[in-house]
Formats: sequence, structure tokens, C-alpha cells
Amino acid sequence: MSVSLGLFLLGFCFVLESSECRPGAPCLYLPAQGCRFPETAGNCAGQKYCLEQKANGQNQTDSPVEVALYYESLCPGCRQFLVLQLYPTWLMLHDIMAVSLVPFGNAQESGQKPPYTFTCQHGEDECLGNMIEACIMNLTKLAFPIIYCMESSEDVIKSAQVCLQLYEPAVDWNTVMTCVKGDLGNQLMHANALMTQALKPAHEYVPWVTINGEHTDDLQQKAMSSLFMLVCNLYKGTKPAACTGAAMKFDRNYL
Ligand SMILES: *[C@@H]1O[C@H](CO)[C@@H](O)[C@H](O)[C@H]1NC(C)=O
Ligand SMILES: *[C@@H]1O[C@H](CO)[C@@H](O)[C@H](O)[C@H]1NC(C)=O
Repeated sequence: MSVSLGLFLLGFCFVLESSECRPGAPCLYLPAQGCRFPETAGNCAGQKYCLEQKANGQNQTDSPVEVALYYESLCPGCRQFLVLQLYPTWLMLHDIMAVSLVPFGNAQESGQKPPYTFTCQHGEDECLGNMIEACIMNLTKLAFPIIYCMESSEDVIKSAQVCLQLYEPAVDWNTVMTCVKGDLGNQLMHANALMTQALKPAHEYVPWVTINGEHTDDLQQKAMSSLFMLVCNLYKGTKPAACTGAAMKFDRNYL
């Protein structure tokens, strides 16, 4: 069991690491190519990263379903959604979905100019967790696995360094902490505050989900009960085998 899981994860990491976001490539996460989300237009730095769409016969002209999560690093409901719904769905459906993570949620920002001051619902540790995750999104290529690793750990903050080393050993922890304590982190969190404040309708709770930039009670409830089914149903292109259960040819050179 653990051996086959290990092999699976290695295979998956390989797929991810060999992916690069090139201008013009059909990327699902677009780090340097502007925003896909209407509500993030203007300042989206660091909110997304790249996973090249695999050339597996799918129609690459169809746009991916955009799922954005507005959340707080220590909110139990947010952690549960990210760990049990968003990340597993993304593992299965990353060919047809784009994920945007905006850590801020019910936090408050004060100050008229940088550096801004932030206060968080679950205390200083939550602000720290939000900031670490915002910086990781800006500084690494594998932000989502790292953030999943943190959010699924018993201690979100203490696990951060290990999670970074696990998925992206080339990025030094000190670089992340320099971001967290410095102007970059402050700027990234300010951008998250603006994005959260710009939500229409305004968010009333967290986790708050938008699908293709839209939030309704119906979409939120469907996302909470089965994000996987929601993304499959909303995708307009040829449905991947994961959605339909269609048999796939198994490549014997796989391993
Ligand atoms: C990181 O943040 C800086 C400053 O906002 C921005 O210029 C840069 O594009 C960001 N990098 C990524 C990969 O998001
Ligand atoms: C891909 O999508 C385009 C535009 O929707 C359509 O014209 C084309 O037939 C599709 N190709 C395949 C292989 O499904």
C-alpha cells in the first residue's frame, strides 16, 4: 500500500516538475501571463502557478473551470475543504480546472499606505500562516502541494518548512521568511485584501468559493458536497475519463 502510493506520488511529482508555463502554452495556472479571474484583474501576482495541459487528446481549446478559494490558514472549515475537496479534485482534474488560492478571508487590514497591518480571526498565527502561503505562491512552482501539505498537517505553521523542503528543496526557507517579514509579503497580503474586498457579492463566511468568478449559494453548496462532480459537470469540453469513468488505454511503459 505505502509502496504503491510512493510510486504514485513520485510519478505525479515528475509530471508536475516537467511542466513549465510557457507563453502561449495552454497553461492552467498562469504565473506571469495575467489574470484569468475577473475579480483578480489588476493585481493577481502570486495567486496562481503553472501546470501545462497534457497533450492527452483532450480538446485544449476549452477553457478550464476556474475555482477560487477565499480562506484563512487556520479556519477548520477552510482546511477541511482544501484538504478533502479542492486538492484531491485538482489531482484528478487538473487538466480541466484552474485553482486560485486567496488567503485572507475575514482578516482586517489597516493603514493607508504600506506597510499595512493585518489582524486575523484566529490570531497572529493565522496571519503568519496566511502570509507564509501567500509568499510560497509567489516564490515556488509547486505551491499547491506545499499548501496542501501544511493545511493537512497537525500544525499548519510548524510544518511549513518541512513541506517546502519536501516539494521544493531548491527554495530556501529563509527566502520565504524574508518575504513574510518584508515588503513583498506585505504587498502580496494587501493584494489579497483587495481581491477579497472586491468580491461581488461580498463574502459572508469562509471558505468562500467562486466558480468562473461567480458565487451563488447553489455553487457554494455543490462545491462543498462534491467539487469533483461540479467541475466535471461545468466543464464544456470533452469530459476526461475521470469524469465519465470511461476505460483508458494503459501505457505499459508507464513505470
Ligand atoms: C511575485 O510578486 C511580485 C511583486 O508583487 C510580482 O512582481 C511577481 O510577478 C510575483 N511572482 C509570481 C511568480 O507570482
Ligand atoms: C475542439 O473544440 C473546437 C471548438 O469548440 C471544436 O470545433 C473542435 O471540433 C473540437 N475538437 C475535438 C477533437 O473535440
